[in-house]
Amino acid sequence: MSETAPAKRLYIKTYGCQMNVYDSERMADVLAPLGYGVTDDPADADLVVLNTCHIREKATEKVYSELGQLKRLKQARPDGMTIAVAGCVAQAEGEEIMRRQPAVDLVVGPQAYHQLPELIARAHRARGERLAADFAPDEKFDALTAERRPSGVSAFLTVQEGCDKFCTFCVVPYTRGGEWSRPADAIEAEARALAEKGVREITLLGQNVNAYAKDQGGEGGLAALIRRLAKIDGLDRIRYTTSHPRDMDDALIAAHAEVPELMPYLHLPVQAGSDKVLKAMNRAHTAESYVRLIERIRAARPDIAISGDFIVGFPGERDADFEATLQLVREVRYASAFSFKYSRRPGTPAAAMMGQVKPEAADERLQRLQALLDEQQQAFNAAQAGRTLPVLFEKAGRHPGQLVGKSPYLQAVHVTAPDRMLGRIVPVRIESAARNSLAGVLELEPA
Ligand code: 5AD
Ligand code: SF4
Repeated sequence: MSETAPAKRLYIKTYGCQMNVYDSERMADVLAPLGYGVTDDPADADLVVLNTCHIREKATEKVYSELGQLKRLKQARPDGMTIAVAGCVAQAEGEEIMRRQPAVDLVVGPQAYHQLPELIARAHRARGERLAADFAPDEKFDALTAERRPSGVSAFLTVQEGCDKFCTFCVVPYTRGGEWSRPADAIEAEARALAEKGVREITLLGQNVNAYAKDQGGEGGLAALIRRLAKIDGLDRIRYTTSHPRDMDDALIAAHAEVPELMPYLHLPVQAGSDKVLKAMNRAHTAESYVRLIERIRAARPDIAISGDFIVGFPGERDADFEATLQLVREVRYASAFSFKYSRRPGTPAAAMMGQVKPEAADERLQRLQALLDEQQQAFNAAQAGRTLPVLFEKAGRHPGQLVGKSPYLQAVHVTAPDRMLGRIVPVRIESAARNSLAGVLELEPA
């Protein structure tokens, strides 16, 4: 079919989390048989898809300013350009998008991506198509993953969607709905197909990935899934993100001790270090229980790199509460982290809370927290100097003759190495560390 289809150009811009990155790749896959090839220039595109994020106000507003620019590009195109808005903003405020920006041809929520080809054909006939989350998720994944073409040796694989935790600041339970897990057989089939196409590392994705299968009554949860996938020939590295401390069960901790393919890296957001704030956030854990949990995980896998998410300036956060966050960070010692200023999201319980923090106070806290986290990240990287680490080479580096790979701890590693080492896991002696990457030399002469 694709030989006869006319060549058309598709530009996809992705905002937000890795699940959106996965979804954007799948959208490109389902559109490829219709003759759409990916371009990185929106001015040149026949179809533009913005895959949007609703988590903070800034991310949402960016979509509207991007749409303003796209409108101008569209006006300059007598041959036509179709503009589609996908992702969480599409899900949450689809009608508003159509009202605010008439250049938009269609809006598609995350559960309807498999219907994109049909939606685009319909949008060419009449503007205003809007599809939201009323499809069976199974059907969506089966349709989206059938044509999957991995572009490298490391791939994302969505295993779970949605969230039932209802942190009081967060829109995800409303935009992405309740927790839902894909059947393990479908996940294994996708992972096997990826391994056959040369993928060596998979990252299992979910808004609450360590709650995997808990909506189906358990059956071993994420730990059992990881053990199953670890048996696939050629799949040498498994990662997962993102997790909630409440779902970090004994079986998963044991997997970190016992499954060599499971990489020693864990993204486990805590958000804050004050019990008062954690309670107001509805996190259902305390600072102490989180620190004890990290200790248990480190007892199972002593070298594990811990990463996290933080919010400063949550309503009611006082200086003493913020100091408790800094204290927790000092105790845990993070290898990397993401920190954000609280963003008030209409419709969430926290939006109506008393004690909204002044932006200047939140800015100052964010700077202090980021300085401490940066220092810890640099210390973690520096501690690798002199060690030999297995590095999975993923792509060419910036300099000729150089490759870039990943350490087990998710650090980028730059090495002078021949191209034939791409896709291989090779021992590298780490010589130096920068803020965001390591540099090293091959431990052995290339064979
Ligand atoms: N304001 C700021 N940060 C937020 N996050 C989620 N909701 C908000 C919000 N309203 C952060 C949390 C979460 C990460 C994905 O985004 O830290 O873990
Ligand atoms: Fe949002 Fe909390 Fe669910 Fe994470 S666990 S997606 S922060 S509600």
